[in-house]
Formats: sequence, structure tokens, C-alpha cells
Amino acid sequence: MWRFLQISDLHFGEVACQQAINHSMHRQIPEIMQCLRRDAPRLEADFLVATGDLTNQGGCDAVFAARDLLDFLDLPYYPVGGDADFREPESRTWFIDAYSGHLPLADTVYSFTHKNLHFCVLDPWRLWPDGSLAPIMTGEETGEEVWAIPPHQLHWLEDDLRSHQDIPTVVLLHYPVLPIPERVSQYDDGNSRGRITKEHLLLDLLANHEQVKLLLTGHTHYHCIRSHKGLTEISTGALVEYPIEYREFHVYDDRVEVYTQGLSNEGFAQESLIEGREWPRGSADDRELVIALD
Ligand SMILES: [Fe+2]
Repeated sequence: MWRFLQISDLHFGEVACQQAINHSMHRQIPEIMQCLRRDAPRLEADFLVATGDLTNQGGCDAVFAARDLLDFLDLPYYPVGGDADFREPESRTWFIDAYSGHLPLADTVYSFTHKNLHFCVLDPWRLWPDGSLAPIMTGEETGEEVWAIPPHQLHWLEDDLRSHQDIPTVVLLHYPVLPIPERVSQYDDGNSRGRITKEHLLLDLLANHEQVKLLLTGHTHYHCIRSHKGLTEISTGALVEYPIEYREFHVYDDRVEVYTQGLSNEGFAQESLIEGREWPRGSADDRELVIALD
């Protein structure tokens, strides 16, 4: 058995929080990362994945500062970009420069294999009302933000999966793909947290590659686990917001066991919590499960 971890939505450099469900602990993010660094050795994880919105605005200084925070964990890691990371035209260049020591190649779209699992990372683009797809997130705001996976990334994914068809695979992207179940969506006010659209293009592709068992996403700021036709999606809440938790994956030859863990210092979560808004921690179904790999 070996382990890896998932954290999401650090929103480093946040000034004013526009989408918090509970109090955003962005000012305490260095202390939160210090606590995670202290907690991490006992977890014996081989690496960590950070599923996007590592910064809040994607400015050059923030990208490198967030990189320094992740480096501070002293654990190998793989970064995934989110909408907040890629606001500026140069954001992806800064991201690739900052994480050059962690990315397998100089791109925000990449794959890697670790022991008995393969991982594919995608970078959806913003879909604008006129139907155009653009890598830049800023423009005339029109309410709900939607993203889609550009065709060239779908072609790349198809090729990558074809050449790794005998190894169980995890696909990572920042935005949720599968519908949010009623048990969770009843709380989410739908206040334009945004979503991936044209998701059937990805799901149809993945349906032809049964080795893909798992989608890991963020962006929601709440924990949610759901499955569809043999594919399980795990959306992980924000590390700066209640319940300030991460996911722990125990990988065996025949299965992956998923656990949801809090920091040893529970004070951050208590300070973030607004009374009555405990729902982002999810139900039991959003916190633990076992995924078969065969
Ligand atoms: Fe996001």
C-alpha cells in the first residue's frame, strides 16, 4: 500500500473573499501550511496533488509565493491550475515557471505514472457566451462562469489514455464535472461558483477507457463524492475554509481507500465555521469510500 494526498483551493493572496461559505482563513494560510507540514510526516504520503486555485488572482508574485508555501510542505507535489490562478494573460507562463521543478513537462496539461496509478491533469478554458473558448479568465462578466475542455486537450487525453490502457487512471482538473447530488446542492445556493460545461465530451471519452476510475476536482469549497457509470468524482473543499481538511488516498493493488482528514490544530476550522454552515464537510458518503481498481 502507498499513499497520496489531495488539497485544494488555497486562494493565497486573497484580499477580499467573494465566494466563502464560511469565514475564509486566507490570512492564516502560512500557519495552516505549517500545521500540515508538521502533520504530514506521519501520513507517509509519496506525494500530494493540489487541485487548483492555489492563488486568488494569479498575479506573478502570488504564484511564486504559493509555490513557496507548497515547497515548504517538504513533500513531492503536482500542481493543478484553477480559474483564480489563470486570470491574467501571462498567468500560465508564471505558473509553468514557478512549478518547473514539479511539472513533468513545461505545460499545465500533463500526465505521470506513480507505481500502479496513472494521473492525467487537464486545464479547462473559459467558455464565453458567444461560444468562444479562451485560456484567459477575465473579460466581460456575464453571471455564471462556465468552463470547457478545449478540443486539443481532449485529443491529448485520448492519446494518453490509449497508451496507458492497462493501468488504473486518475484524471485531475479544478472544476467539478459530475452533477452535485441533491444532498449537497440543497445547501449550495448556486451562487455561480461555476461549473464545467460540455462535460459529456469528457465523460463520453472516459467511458471508452474503463481504466479511468477517479476524477479529482476542487473549486466547490465543499466536500462531495459521487459516482456515475463506474467513474467516481471526489471534489475536495478549500484548505482555507471550514472544515479545513484534506483527502488521504491509500492505494492497494486492487483498490483505493479514500479518507478525509483534518489538521491536528482544529482551531482553524472552528474559527472559520459560521454557525449553521457545517454542511461543507459533507455527509458520510462525501468523506470516505473504497474504489475498486479491477
Ligand atoms: Fe475555482
